[in-house]
Order: sequence, then structure tokens, then C-alpha cells
Amino acid sequence: MSRISPFLPLTLGLCLPLSVWGFEHFQPLPKAVQQPADNPASTEKISLGKKLFFDPALLGTNSTLSCNSCHKLSTGGVDGKTVSRGQHGQYTYRSTPTLWNIGFQTVLYWDGRSRSLEEQTLDHLRDPVISDNAHIGAMVQRLMDAEDYRQAFEAAFPGEDAVSADNVARALASFERSLLTPDSPFDQYIRGDENAISASARRGMVLFNDSGCASCHFGVNFAGPAPGPAMGPGDGFYELFPNHLGSRYDEQYGLADDLGRFEATGNLREKYMWRVPILRNIAVTAPYFHNGRVKTLDEAVRVMAKTQLGKEFSDGEVQDIVAFLNSLTGRMAPP
Ligand code: HEC
Ligand code: HEC
Repeated sequence: MSRISPFLPLTLGLCLPLSVWGFEHFQPLPKAVQQPADNPASTEKISLGKKLFFDPALLGTNSTLSCNSCHKLSTGGVDGKTVSRGQHGQYTYRSTPTLWNIGFQTVLYWDGRSRSLEEQTLDHLRDPVISDNAHIGAMVQRLMDAEDYRQAFEAAFPGEDAVSADNVARALASFERSLLTPDSPFDQYIRGDENAISASARRGMVLFNDSGCASCHFGVNFAGPAPGPAMGPGDGFYELFPNHLGSRYDEQYGLADDLGRFEATGNLREKYMWRVPILRNIAVTAPYFHNGRVKTLDEAVRVMAKTQLGKEFSDGEVQDIVAFLNSLTGRMAPP
């Protein structure tokens, strides 16, 4: 899809909260995620999804990994590794992304190759790096044989055939849509508490907007449009990365080694196209980028400035942007 550019120069004084300016590309976190018509959330589904998420037995009889091993909710939704280790020590193809606020993304994976959380779960369950089930049928049989699971599935999906792979995916997706991180200092600021973020973070926010970061990183997750009128589930917001090829970072961090969406679609026009990722909680989800090669947030900001905007920021400017990004860390408590 074509580039949306909501980029507007900030010219007013720094003391006004953003809501007063009416910058629609900077939004507080909504209270809830839009639910798909064919899988609306319920308390029973969310609690079943939570049980599955933390249970290694979901991913194989002798699995030592649960969803939470890689997407560790207590540490920002990531495991802090460059790439994660799978069931038998294999490395994952790309770095593990956070699942906090994931329900506001219209497509899943770094390259957006999955169209819904339900579809993505089924894809993971068939992936031998993630799942050690001989086949999905074996997993379903194991869940059927466990009395507590059978009851939880029947409560969440009343009717015939409650225990099924599709319902595992529905329950996990409902749980994931409930993973929200409200009340970040940024959200408090944008709702009108002028002192919720530091002067440096306020300068960083203006620079983030004025220098062009916000032309890609806008909206609820700073990752482009959330599901809604602008973009339906399955439509992705993609951008080139590196946008300016040839900087020293390409080689230093292997930025041009992975062809992005092209690897999934084979479409030449999608070489180096990536989904714009979530910046909420970015301060606690190191390391950075699809290959996890950049260890610190200030270096990630320098890389973005150079590769995406063709700019070199001063140390002070980098510090201000990092202070702004630090203000995006919200409250993380699983339901
Ligand atoms: C071995 C580590 C590992 C385990 C275990 C694991 N995942 Fe993942 N997950 C990943 C990696 C790596 C990616 C990114 C893959 C990519 O983009 O190509 C990912 C991507 C995702 C995404 C898409 C995130 C985004 O930003 O689009 C979701 C949702 C997800 N996983 C949910 C789960 C669920 C639910 C489970 C348990 C059934 C699970 N994961 C188990 C490593 C793991
Ligand atoms: C042209 C669009 C574009 C612009 C402009 C842009 N970004 Fe990005 N940003 C992306 C894409 C795409 C990625 C994902 C890169 C990848 O695949 O690893 C990304 C990744 C990031 C990441 C790492 C996210 C993670 O989870 O590892 C940070 C931090 C970031 N951007 C901050 C910024 C800042 C700060 C600016 C301004 C200096 C900026 N971006 C400008 C598109 C953009």
C-alpha cells in the first residue's frame, strides 16, 4: 500500500498537551482492541488462552518451551535474545517480537506474512522450531484427554467439537488481544498531565515528529494504522528498510542480508519491505530490528535516522528521542 504521510510540523509551544494540537497520529492507547466478528472475546476464552500460553505441554509431550518462553510477558514480551532457541536448540528465523498491544497490528510477523492472530497461531503450531507436536492432531488429542482442558474448552466454545486446533488458535488470539499496556507516561501526557514526561522527552517527541520518524511510526502503536476504516485486518503497512541503502550500518548489522517481504511473496517490488513495528514499550524490548543485531536503543535510533531519513543526529538529539521512546513504556499486567 502507498505511503501515508501524516507528517505535520510542530510549531506551537511545548507546554500544550498533544491532544490540544489534535495530532491524530499520536494517540493514547485505547481501552480495548477491535474484536473480529468471527471470534469475539469472552472471559472464558481469555482464561483458556492464558492457560495455553503458559503451558509447555501445548507445544509437545516433552516440550520445555511455552509461548511465554520466547514472548516472556514479564520482561516486555520478549526473551532479550538476538534470535531465540527453538524446541531442539535451533535458532528462530528472525528475532522474537513483543506481544504486548499486538491486537492493534493488522498483519503479523516482521514481514507481515500472516493475516490474523488466529492464522498466525496455527502457523506457529505447525512450525517445527516452535512446536514439537508430531502433528496438530496429536496436540488436540492430548488436550481432549486432559479433564481440566476439556472443561475449559467446553466453557469457552459451547457446542460440538469444543477441543480443536481452530479453537486453540481462537482462545490464544483472544488472550493476545487482551495484552494491553495502558498508562505510559506518554499516555498520561497526551491526556493532559503536562508533567508526566521530562523536558528531554518533550523535545524528543517534537524531533520524532519534525524529523520524519512519525511519517512511518504513527498511530496507536506508532506502527501505522490500527485495524479500522483506514486498514482492515490483513492489509499491512509496509516500508522500505533500509530506505537509504549504502550506509555503514548495512554491513555492520547485516541490514541488507534479509530481503524482507520478498522472501515470503517473491514479488521484486517487495525487496527490503518490512511491516512498520510497534514502538510502545520499545525501551524494554531490546535487542532491535528483525535480526536482533542492534543491542541498544540509542544505537537503534542512530541506525533509523541514517537508514530511513539519511540524517545523523547529535548525541543530544539521540538522547532526547530515547527519552521520548522511554515514555512509551506502559503498565504490563496480564489479565
Ligand atoms: C522458540 C520461540 C518462540 C515460541 C516458543 C513462540 N514464538 Fe511466537 N514468535 C517467535 C518469533 C521468532 C516470531 C517472529 C517470526 C517472524 O516474524 O518471522 C514470533 C511471532 C509471533 C507473533 C507475531 C508477532 C508480530 O509482531 O507480528 C505472535 C502473535 C506469536 N509469535 C505468538 C506466539 C504464541 C501464541 C506462541 C505459543 C503458541 C508462540 N508465539 C510461541 C518465537 C516464538
Ligand atoms: C520510512 C519509514 C520509517 C521511518 C522514517 C522510520 N522508521 Fe523506524 N522502522 C521502520 C521499519 C520498517 C522498521 C523495521 C525494521 C526491521 O525490519 O528490522 C523500523 C524499526 C524501528 C525500531 C526498532 C523496532 C524493534 O522492535 O526492533 C525503532 C526503535 C525505530 N524504528 C525508531 C525510529 C525512529 C526514532 C525514527 C526516526 C529517526 C524512525 N524509526 C524512522 C520504518 C521507519
